[in-house]
Amino acid sequence: MGEQHKYRANEKMSDLICDNYSLLMVMSRFGLSLGFGDKTVKDVCEAQGVDYRTFLAVANFISEGQYTYGEAAEEEGFSLPSLMDYLKQAHSYFLDFNLPAIRRKLIEAIDCSERNDVSFLILRYFDEYAKEVRRHMEYENEAVFTYVEQLLEGHLSATYDIATFASKHNQIGDKLRELKNIIIKYYPERGNNHLLNSVLFDLFNCEQDLVSHCLVEDHMFVPAVAQLERRLKDEQ
Ligand SMILES: [Fe+2]
Ligand SMILES: [Fe+2]
Repeated sequence: MGEQHKYRANEKMSDLICDNYSLLMVMSRFGLSLGFGDKTVKDVCEAQGVDYRTFLAVANFISEGQYTYGEAAEEEGFSLPSLMDYLKQAHSYFLDFNLPAIRRKLIEAIDCSERNDVSFLILRYFDEYAKEVRRHMEYENEAVFTYVEQLLEGHLSATYDIATFASKHNQIGDKLRELKNIIIKYYPERGNNHLLNSVLFDLFNCEQDLVSHCLVEDHMFVPAVAQLERRLKDEQ
């Protein structure tokens, strides 16, 4: 990663990605494809129908780890519908692609052929973890995003608000920590195991990715929804 600075709309998209390759994930979750030559961030986004301000806000938040909502200048604001789209695509990345891919690799790595209690335990923990992530994300997809879509159409709810969601929004990392510990501390020694180490590496990555996903929700999504709620209440 290069030295910290705020990415701008007139920088080359390829420079952003080479500067911080975790932005590849951000790109793909916005539905942006590769092969953009020397185009700037703004041009790549506009050519592919993506709101460049929202892309930049997320890219800068993920790179810098902070976002001060409300103080940003006009060109640094973002669109709530487009952020919500991004979050939905991130959910489907975790649930439909990343976790199933890790599970397949895990099964190949841990030798399920013989009776091996640790292998059994590892798989059970993984499945419980994946189930927890699914529950968390499906709640957001079904309850929270539906609520926000209603808000965007101007309808406040008498029974739900974003503060209720925020107060219960938990980090989904505990089970994963236990799973990593079982693999690291108790998996029977069996010489070199490149595949198992590589799964472990994927798990650490996935954890990091989920933590940063939750931070985007807590520090960008929730405050933006709260602001929309306040505006609608004032109007009424
Ligand atoms: Fe989420
Ligand atoms: Fe979440």
